[in-house]
Amino acid sequence: MTDKQILLTGDRPTGKMHIGHYVGSLRNRVELQNSGKYESYIMIADKQALTDNARDPKKVHDSVLQVALDYLAVGVDPEKSTIFLQSQIPALSELTEYYLNLVSLGRLERNPTVKTELKMRNFGEGIPAGFLIYPVSQAADITAFKATVIPVGDDQEPMLEQTREIVRTFNNVYSGDILVEPQGYFPPKGQGRIPGLDGVKMSKSLGNAIYLSDDADTLAKKVKSMYTDPEHINIDDPGHIEGNMVFTYLDIFDDDKEEVARLKEHYQRGGLGDMKIKKYLIEVLENKLAPIRERREMFAQNPEAVMKMLEEGSKKANLVASQTMREVRHAMGVDYFGEF
Ligand code: TRP
Repeated sequence: MTDKQILLTGDRPTGKMHIGHYVGSLRNRVELQNSGKYESYIMIADKQALTDNARDPKKVHDSVLQVALDYLAVGVDPEKSTIFLQSQIPALSELTEYYLNLVSLGRLERNPTVKTELKMRNFGEGIPAGFLIYPVSQAADITAFKATVIPVGDDQEPMLEQTREIVRTFNNVYSGDILVEPQGYFPPKGQGRIPGLDGVKMSKSLGNAIYLSDDADTLAKKVKSMYTDPEHINIDDPGHIEGNMVFTYLDIFDDDKEEVARLKEHYQRGGLGDMKIKKYLIEVLENKLAPIRERREMFAQNPEAVMKMLEEGSKKANLVASQTMREVRHAMGVDYFGEF
């Protein structure tokens, strides 16, 4: 056993990851991983991705490798973190089923994140039951590893709250202290969410994202199309920096804060053109993203090795989750024939 805190987080594989994911969570978890203070588990949540993509299994299947490549590209290190595939850990499904009895339908319907997501998705054929209950499956993901530190975006707080409730109820009803309550680890205020090129939330479906895998030309093209200040027509006009995506991005990505302050002042005074400032941003982003892109390309040359890494990680994760499962079965009295 370890005296380190246990960290667990995950992503749904529904496509490649973008710089919003990078800023909102990938960056954080790599830093935590490298601190050496945590035993760290990173999960590709393919089972959860299927809750709203059940009829598009190929998308989920193909995205597993893409997400694994994105992880490796940003510095998630399989020597330091166990990277695994949710669907390959049977205990997660078994735990989910038992936890479901401790949660009311009304409570599930009130989960704010699920509510928002339901509004965004139009489930023509009705809400899949699996989708409505995915917060419970997420509680299984977290508790199977007895994880206490969960680095995620702010939108995941309701999932953690629901997990804590399940932990308390379980420990209470089945008289034990087997399960452990998790806490979220969130990005610093104002840095968690990065808007898309058009100023709206960055997302795959809106087509306004910059991907970690975008090549240099695509990156430049996207930056050139960015929303700036519609009233800044002539170079000499004073410009606005509020809601101007170029400056929003510079605030997040440029480490040279003095230069950013100087450029802002110049832009507001007038005399600084959009093209010039965009070229500067392209350089800043290219400096950050080129090393990530290169690492990604290197790993992409050997997809078999990446899948092998996932397989090993899944085996390791399975041992840990199975142990918790045995404890849970014992506490509930469903271990009739001893351990298996
Ligand atoms: N719901 C998370 C997301 O969409 C992904 C996820 C699944 C997760 N299981 C998890 C995150 C467990 C943290 C812990 O981003």
